[in-house]
Amino acid sequence: MTVAQSWTPQSWQEKTARQMPDYPDKAALDRVLGQLRTHPPLVFAGEARNLMAALGQAAEGKAFLLQGGDCAESFAEFHPDNIRDTFRVLLQMAVVLTFAAGVPVVKVGRIAGQFAKPRSDDFETQNGVKLPSYRGDNINGGEFTPESRIPDPQRLLQANAQSAATLNLLRAFAQGGYADLHNVHRWMLGFIADSPAGEQYKGLAQRISETLEFMDAIGITSTSVPQLRGTDFYTSHEALLLPYEQAMTRVDSTSGDWYDTSAHMLWIGDRTRQLDGAHVEFMRGIKNPIGLKCGPSLEPDDLLRLIAALNPQNIPGRLTLIARFGADKIADKLPTLVRAVKREGASVVWSSDPMHGNTIKLQSGYKTRPVERVLEEVRSFFAIHRAEGTHAGGVHFEMTGQNVTECLGGAQGLKEIDLADRYQTACDPRLNASQALELAFLIAEGIRDERMKQTGLAASA
Ligand code: PEP
Ligand code: CO
Repeated sequence: MTVAQSWTPQSWQEKTARQMPDYPDKAALDRVLGQLRTHPPLVFAGEARNLMAALGQAAEGKAFLLQGGDCAESFAEFHPDNIRDTFRVLLQMAVVLTFAAGVPVVKVGRIAGQFAKPRSDDFETQNGVKLPSYRGDNINGGEFTPESRIPDPQRLLQANAQSAATLNLLRAFAQGGYADLHNVHRWMLGFIADSPAGEQYKGLAQRISETLEFMDAIGITSTSVPQLRGTDFYTSHEALLLPYEQAMTRVDSTSGDWYDTSAHMLWIGDRTRQLDGAHVEFMRGIKNPIGLKCGPSLEPDDLLRLIAALNPQNIPGRLTLIARFGADKIADKLPTLVRAVKREGASVVWSSDPMHGNTIKLQSGYKTRPVERVLEEVRSFFAIHRAEGTHAGGVHFEMTGQNVTECLGGAQGLKEIDLADRYQTACDPRLNASQALELAFLIAEGIRDERMKQTGLAASA
């Protein structure tokens, strides 16, 4: 255990840190980091422990994780309406999934801190001009000019302030009455009335309406039961920019443990999951629940070594494995990983990110994702867990509450030509509100079929 004892919030600095910006003015960076160290924590360690317990249930199939939000938050899109709409769609998805799965849905936003982006290329070339890549609004600017692409530490302060304000509004929404189940259901009925594919969701919505009426009739109302009035909502982002994460890492006075207080949950990206790298070093020492993106290049032995490093005590809910292979690769890659984890007896939440393995670049230059492929990957994810006798514990989406045109297909039948209408993402293409909800309904049907089959089997056994 000598390895574990040598961890400090800055021990990652001894390791190779990939995807890190090179700040030209180190003194300015240090001044900003010093300031951030005195800023209040964004979350309380006790909340992170509650999330860990909820995720522990998901690891055992007794809860389901719904994680979603922007690919990258931006300064330009910072607006209460955007926060409200993303929150609202996530809650709607959660109700649909709760009803189908018959278990609590743990709601975690990619929000209030999801700024820094890993990039495949350090440089971007446009019309023969080569500039450093955009790395997220907390690092540099998206505008294609040399000045804008210079990493600016002041951006960390702005991102931190935006995260605090966003989280403040989310807390108000979650507990102040806006998230009342009856409201959420009303929004859903509105969606169904407006959606071209609404007809096919009517059955499930009708069952939820009847359930609410029944509950009302027997006195289970928002006044009598606080769970109907409010909800737990957690935040998460990729822990990419380690100087920032270190500055937000504090000792929890209750437990004496280190928590990264920039979000409830943090994850390691597919590009920064090297066992001997700085990101794994940092993440192994914080006590928050953490995620690990698992892409096509991850081999079972490496995964087991990462699990041993990140969750040596095998605590349920500590580690969520976020599978992001692509609809065409998942059947080939996921089963061997699932078997290895099962053989080892490691407790994990298996979650499906059907976005990052299904990105395509069109001739027109747009990055997009066909909704059909997204759905196909989720379906395979469920089928693989069914075949392996393991739990499909959650889903991880890039989505927004806005009516953007970034992903192809869905009930609105978005085509290549439509992408230009409202293509607004600061990074990867997101599902719009309607596409996200459709997916929730389709996933819900899958979960429901599965439950009915299990009940049927149990009855005939
Ligand atoms: C992301 O989640 O935005 C991301 C970059 O994912 P990945 O690390 O899986 O590519
Ligand atoms: Co992304």
